[in-house]
Order: sequence, then C-alpha cells, then structure tokens
Amino acid sequence: MSGLVGVIDEGTKTLSFSIYTIPDFKEIAAHVVELCLISPKDGWYEQDPREIMASINKCAEEAIKMLANQGFSANDIATVGITNQRETTVVWDAVTGKPLYNALLWKDIRTSTTVEKIVAKVQDPNHFRSSTGLPISTYFSALKIRWLRDNVPEVRKAMKEGRCKAGTVDSWIVWNLTNGALHVTDVTNASRTLLMNLETQNWDPELLQTFEIPEEMLPSIHSCSEVFGKITMDRSPLRGMMLSGIIGNQQASLLGQMCVNPGQTKNTYRSGCFILCNTGKKPVFSSHGLLTTVAYKLGPQAPTIYAIEGAVLVAGHALSWLQSKMRILPDVKDAKRFAEEVPTSGEVYFVPAFTGLYAPYWQPNARGIIIGLTQFTRKNHIVRAALESICFQTLDILECMRQECGYKIRKLHADGKLSTNDLLMQIQADTIGMPVFRSQFVDFTSFGAAMCAAHADGLDLWRFDPEKDYAHVKYDTFQSTTMEDERKERYRKWKRAVKRSFGWVIN
Ligand code: G3P
Repeated sequence: MSGLVGVIDEGTKTLSFSIYTIPDFKEIAAHVVELCLISPKDGWYEQDPREIMASINKCAEEAIKMLANQGFSANDIATVGITNQRETTVVWDAVTGKPLYNALLWKDIRTSTTVEKIVAKVQDPNHFRSSTGLPISTYFSALKIRWLRDNVPEVRKAMKEGRCKAGTVDSWIVWNLTNGALHVTDVTNASRTLLMNLETQNWDPELLQTFEIPEEMLPSIHSCSEVFGKITMDRSPLRGMMLSGIIGNQQASLLGQMCVNPGQTKNTYRSGCFILCNTGKKPVFSSHGLLTTVAYKLGPQAPTIYAIEGAVLVAGHALSWLQSKMRILPDVKDAKRFAEEVPTSGEVYFVPAFTGLYAPYWQPNARGIIIGLTQFTRKNHIVRAALESICFQTLDILECMRQECGYKIRKLHADGKLSTNDLLMQIQADTIGMPVFRSQFVDFTSFGAAMCAAHADGLDLWRFDPEKDYAHVKYDTFQSTTMEDERKERYRKWKRAVKRSFGWVIN
C-alpha cells in the first residue's frame, strides 16, 4: 500500500492524532491535547469518556489541516489505527450511547477491597495466572467492571436490562466512531482485563462467573491488524475512513521499536515505565510477579506473539511530584540540570511507592519513602535519587526477566518522552550494566499502531527492512561505565530501601 495512515493514541495524560506516510512511516502531521485527570479521592483516577471523543475530533481536525501544506488531504488517509492506555474501563448504555460513569483508570486503586474479597474466596492472588497470565489486582479491568456494578446504581440497572456495554478505551472509541455498529477489542487489550484466557483468546467462562460479568456486555476479541469497519460517526473529521488497527499502547511501542524477536526488550519512559520482553509464540509464566501478556497478533490467521511485562507505576510522575507538590524542581525538564550539579545522589534513595508497588513486589500497602538524608543532603541529591529510582525499578524487572524468560537480554530499547533525558539514559545503562539504545523518535506507540493498520491495508510488514525503511529513525547508544561490584552494592542498598516502604498502610 502507499498513502497515509492516521493513528489515534489515547494515553493516560494526552491524546494525539498522528499521520504517517506509507511505506516509510514518516510522521508528517500530529496534534496533541492534554486530557483532564479527575481524582475525587486519594488513589481514585477517572477520565470523562466524552472528553476522549471530543479530543479525537479536535486532534484529527488539527492534524488534517497540516496536511494541506504538504500536498495531501484527508482523502489520502487510507486507514486509521488506534492505540490506547490499557485496562482503563468504560461502561456505557447501548441504547443512548452515553457513558454510565467516568472511565476508571488503570492506576485507580478503589477496587482494593474487591480484590481482597476475591482473593479470600479463591485463596490465592495468583489463582488465575495460569489462564490469564495476571495476578488478581486493582490494575485490571474485571475488578473495575465489578466495582462499577456494585457501586453505581445506573450500571446495575442497565446490566439487568441488558443495555450495558463495557470495554477498554479502544472499544469505547470504536463504538462511537462506528455509531454503535461495532463492539470490538483486540487481543492485546483483552489480555489485560483478567477475563481473557491466554490460550483460547476468548472470554473465559470461569472468570466471567467469578467476577459475575455477563459476556454480552463485553466486546468481541480480534487480532490487532484487520479491517474492522468504516468510520461513520457524524461530524467526525475521520468519517468515511477505514479502521484497521487496534493495539494496547505498550505492546504498540514494542512493535514500533521492532522488538519482534524473542529476548528483545523495550522500556517506555513516561509518567510510568512499561518494560516488555518479546517471548515469541510461547507464553512465559512468571513466578516473580511479572505479567504474561499478548504482544501482538498481526491478522486473524497470524500467530499470537507473547511478551512478559513489568510495570513501574511511578517514573516521570516522581519528577512531576517534585515539581508540583514539593516545588523542588521548577520544571520536569530541569531534572537533568539539577541532578548533574551533584556527582551522586549522596546515598539518598527515593522509593516512589505513592500507590503501592507493582511487579515484582505487588505491595499495595507500600508507600513512598526518601531515605538516607543527612545534613549535607541538597535538593539536587533528591532529584538525582528520583532519576535513579526509575532506573532501579527498571532493573528490578529486568532481573526477573533474565531469570524467567531464558533469553539473554543484551540491550534495552528505550523510548517515551522522558527518554530524552540523556542523564537518565546514562544512569540507566550504568545501573543495568548493558547498553541502552534510545531512539530519537520518542513516539513509538503510535508508530506501532500505524504498522498494524497499514499491515491490514496491504503493507507486508515482514518484507519491511527497518535498516532501510526506517533510515530516518536515528538512535543513540548509552554504554555502561560501571563495574559489576559497584552495581551490586548500590542495588543491594536500593532493595533495602524498597523493603522499608512495605506495609505502611494498615487496613
Ligand atoms: O497499562 C497502562 C498503560 O497502558 C498506560 O500507559 O503511557 O498512557 O501511561 P500510558
């Protein structure tokens, strides 16, 4: 195929619409808007689903306007792909099309009591690991749907009357873009709900029964790359275009970084960090708390490729906190300059467990600590410790991956806005003792979704040669400058600090 592909990238903080030329995947237009984060209580995070749709229209309109200067128009956009924050859950009324509640975000922890009840019933937080690859946690959509049913009368009523639809954000977007004609999701998003069986890639009857979720309210599960249908939404700048790609955002960046061989690993540095290692056609089940997930499936008949994943809840968010709440940093952009003013963190360790810790610890009751303060500690040390915390948390996950997946991880591919911080990348290489391969193009998420959409539209991705076709994407390599003993010693201290953050919340 040749022409243009558009991508809707709905993330936790921002929504963008980008346009790429095919077959060389050059981004020629993009518009981004911030999304409002609604936080009615500590640990509760919501988004307005209507704002998501309004933002898609706004971003698409603005990006399409940019095409005129480059000799293109909206008619050249052959197809559209979607990538989205995963797990975040929307419920809506199939008759009115209106949301029944705000979207509950992936990092929302209001379902912790529901988690405890279900764990007590099945007697093991890992009870569903062999079928879903996931532990029972507030992170996943099943718990969120269950909370909405138990706590929002409108949701319960619509469920009783068979009018309630539920899905991750991709499903909400497709439902709206197709005027309610399609209720679909893809296998990567479905693999984050705690309702999909990894082997059959269907909704699992035992899980539906445990969470008391009727299958009729869920979308049908598809591959990431197929022609789903046409955009028919009234007044949409995308009306008339085809939809042919859906993929969760972290899987999208794995694909965008061309981590298509087993052992290839990427980390996307944004407000959180998501580290995924491609494990090929076989799912690898973790005994260290990592998640087993679908990486991609490029067509209904294509093989399913799996990944093992670790998520760091608080990465760039720790710097935003130092900026907005502690007022130590004038801006997140200043973190490099501040941290460079001191040669080390002065033995200060910062564990940013603001809402607990995910893999490999899974400690919902941990809370943040800054430890090792002395009379000589300056704010620069704390900023440097915040950067180091991102790198140590990444190391925690890579260590588990090394032990579990049996592949030698030789380098770490890095992307995401925070990866533009050269000092962070150098500290990362020094912490893990291997090279960090940072792309100068930070947005591999929408890139991966463009690949899925273009592939369904006829571009054979497997003939695609990244060396040649991606020649415009440049990389920087950060080599490790540390010795093993030094790394081990610092990591040992990090682990001591992490342990001290455990169990701070007493229920
Ligand atoms: O699992 C949550 C993840 O998909 C969120 O990604 O980049 O929107 O924070 P991001």
